[in-house]
Amino acid sequence: MTKKLELYRCSVCENLVEVLSCGNGELVCCGKPMELINTNESDLKELNDKHVPLIEKNIEGFTIRVGATVHPMTNEHHIDFIQAISKDFKYVKTKFLSVEEAPELNIKCKCENSVWARALCNIHGLFKKEFDE
Ligand SMILES: [Fe+2]
Repeated sequence: MTKKLELYRCSVCENLVEVLSCGNGELVCCGKPMELINTNESDLKELNDKHVPLIEKNIEGFTIRVGATVHPMTNEHHIDFIQAISKDFKYVKTKFLSVEEAPELNIKCKCENSVWARALCNIHGLFKKEFDE
């Protein structure tokens, strides 16, 4: 059974899918089961500093940056996308990034709801951060 907003990748063709509605079936691509992308939970400070999103609440909403040390944005090594997700999972904002663009997402919202964020690096995988109030 899949879970809402899980990410799966095809190891053959690199298709990446996000679960919007859950079902019991197995996700298959290129004739093989797709692989669940788990959050990278490394203890390496240098890796986390470059990848774990920082969430800053401001007057208009939130600014999310990847990361404390700005992540590289080159063809070889970059952040594919950043997502801000409300804690109740009702709202998701995704920004797909271009190379050489700052790995940053600004969202305007007046919601009381706090958000968590995640970012996908093309080399190091998926990193997430909860918003601490
Ligand atoms: Fe990276």
